Amino acid sequence: MTEKIRVFSGIRPTNILNIGNYLGAIKGWLEFQERPDLDCLYSAVDLHGITSPYESKKYQNQIQELVLEYLAVGIDPNKSHIFIQSQVPEHIELAYYLSTIYPVSRLEQLPTYKDKKQEQPRYINMGLLYYPVLMAADILIYKAKLVPVGKDQLPHIEVAREMARSFNKSFGQTFPEPQAHLMKGAYIPSLTGEGKMSKSKPDSFISLLDDLKTIEKKLAKVPTDNGHDKVLPKEGGVLSLLNFVELFQGLEKKQEYEKLYLTTGLQYGDLKKDLAKSIYQELQPIQEKRNYYADRPKEVAEILEDGRKYASNIARETLKEVKEKMGLTSNG
Ligand code: AMP
Ligand code: TRP
Repeated sequence: MTEKIRVFSGIRPTNILNIGNYLGAIKGWLEFQERPDLDCLYSAVDLHGITSPYESKKYQNQIQELVLEYLAVGIDPNKSHIFIQSQVPEHIELAYYLSTIYPVSRLEQLPTYKDKKQEQPRYINMGLLYYPVLMAADILIYKAKLVPVGKDQLPHIEVAREMARSFNKSFGQTFPEPQAHLMKGAYIPSLTGEGKMSKSKPDSFISLLDDLKTIEKKLAKVPTDNGHDKVLPKEGGVLSLLNFVELFQGLEKKQEYEKLYLTTGLQYGDLKKDLAKSIYQELQPIQEKRNYYADRPKEVAEILEDGRKYASNIARETLKEVKEKMGLTSNG
């Protein structure tokens, strides 16, 4: 049997998952776990979450909540390995080794780092600069080849690729170059019509746990126009709405609306009500499954322990190889 190709991805336990995370990243995770040629590891990356201001007393709950949501969206512990990043501390050790072969100047130039500096000017900590190094270690420690993520993560994947190349060149072939896997929903726009849907911007998202009323209220606030023009909008709230229609109701429905927009005019009230229903229809079973697992903490703890063990074994092996190759241990 040929060896399975490894897949790794993770999300920070910063807020309830939203439909951007779901369509942009998790749909890819679900697709991959169905493939018998792939070995999938999905992690709650709590060490990345503490690089932004957070509440330590609430953090354990947030981590557990994220795991419930992984299970709720359909990450299946019989098909994938689910674990918490900080419970496999080998990631941190590998990150240190990788940091010694990568220029600081490249890290300082990353758009994600620059954005964070603007977002949290009073909290520009070392961890923020180190973020892509740890992320590369997350991926490389499993020698993962595929990383299903949203578009915003591409610069980070590039760092991981460069690190793999650089390590291989200096110390001999060790790591495959990981590839990002983008989904159709790799860029979900914000409900405000400006920028991307983001966990850190409350007005921008629909969360996976929102009820129908909340979704209706949020969609009602999406800025629109008078519903009629000679050309379709290229940005803003209307474009976001049409995008959501395509993702939740299909391309045909979107084309129907586009035709109305270009001819007799589009009624946003109807569109929004219909769209809210479709979104909720997809979210309702996820919410039920979340509650199922919330009532079964023992089962969840077992799933996480299985995941931790599986991940730890691979991580230890990789570290051993890395330390030998770097001359930190004898290989005799
Ligand atoms: P974050 O919420 O930043 O921790 O992101 C978790 C995952 O969701 C990453 O793979 C992101 O690329 C993806 N993601 C976050 N926001 C969006 C978005 N608006 N559109 C598509 N993917 C997203
Ligand atoms: N940086 C990613 C995000 O913000 C989370 C992450 C950390 C990740 N380590 C990873 C994603 C490794 C993929 C692979 O969403």
